[in-house]
Amino acid sequence: MSRKILVFDTTLRDGEQVPGAKLNLYEKLEIAYQLKKLGVDIIEAGFPASSEGDFHAVQEIAKCVGNTDTVMITALARAVEADIDAVYNSIKYAEKPLIHIVLGTSNIHVEKKFGKSKNQILNLGVEAVKYAKTLLPDVQYSTEDASRSDFEYLWATIEAVVRAGATMINVPDTVGYADPEEFGHLIYKLNDRLKNLNDTVILSVHCHNDLGMATANTLAAIKNGADKVECTINGIGERAGNAALEEVIMALHTRSSFYNAHTNIHTREIMNTSKLVSSLMGLDVQVNKAITGDNAFAHSSGIHQDGLLKSREAYEIISPTEVGLNDMELVLTARSGRHAVKNAIEKLGFTQLTDRQFEDLFVDFLTLADTKKEVYNHDLYAIVENYYTRH
Ligand code: KIV
Ligand code: ZN
Repeated sequence: MSRKILVFDTTLRDGEQVPGAKLNLYEKLEIAYQLKKLGVDIIEAGFPASSEGDFHAVQEIAKCVGNTDTVMITALARAVEADIDAVYNSIKYAEKPLIHIVLGTSNIHVEKKFGKSKNQILNLGVEAVKYAKTLLPDVQYSTEDASRSDFEYLWATIEAVVRAGATMINVPDTVGYADPEEFGHLIYKLNDRLKNLNDTVILSVHCHNDLGMATANTLAAIKNGADKVECTINGIGERAGNAALEEVIMALHTRSSFYNAHTNIHTREIMNTSKLVSSLMGLDVQVNKAITGDNAFAHSSGIHQDGLLKSREAYEIISPTEVGLNDMELVLTARSGRHAVKNAIEKLGFTQLTDRQFEDLFVDFLTLADTKKEVYNHDLYAIVENYYTRH
């Protein structure tokens, strides 16, 4: 039977750590609503202890987007009570809140970053989980730099925090150092021990892309028993980024019998989500990026075009419509009415505009439409992004 894989999106936390990608409250809310529409299981909304603004944004997302049991809302804490309190106080309004605690397990983190002994760090982790469990039932523990950790110490940490009550264990390849075969093997061994210890605990992975292997490592982990994957839209994140949600999802979708696994993602929302994130964060998507790049479904050579005309299967493994491309795009002009413009803007994923905000945007639309024959989706993204930046 096909296994259900949980999808944890960290675009608003790891993704927002990209220099220059800072979002305001309205932009974060737009993205969080779109992630819910996309069908992710868990939204990591931020790092509330980092600033008052982040705390407030996480709180609003918990209240407005987390008002349903279809999506969990989480936020990140270091293994200290002040951080855990900040997470709890910002996410407690969600129907399904989850506290996420991170603490390193590699020698580099334990000895060089914290200057402590392995025992001291392990105890800090256990105390943090015990404290978080007094606040909420669902707690995720991330063993930062797991892929460069001594295996027996990594396992001792996992065993101790599970006994303390952690309900999800996340295994990060924090610096994108792992190789798929090696990472798959690590997950296989952890899964084997974890299932014997407590088979209700969810095993998760969080892969970075420093060597371009984040997607491959994530898929290798799924093959070897991971129940949950952490990703970002367009693969944005620290340094070279995180595993790209759209790549992992479309690999599972396209090769479903190979992976024997599925997710709740509505793949037709992928393109809108990608464009929304790219426009609000001001981060262009590389043209040849798998799934969401401009050229991902473009065929230019004569031989390929000829082959496609005879059979699409010849050069197309995914139909563009499956990721939301080629949905009918109305061409807007200076003569388009409010209804058509509102409809087009909402279809792009901007669903939280008030009537007042829309009236302002409509004026911006008419000003632009007067200067050119036709207004396309990319113009609408620019209009809304500009508007949010000004307000
Ligand atoms: O890369 C990492 O280790 C992280 C953790 C907070 C999961 O982002
Ligand atoms: Zn990360």
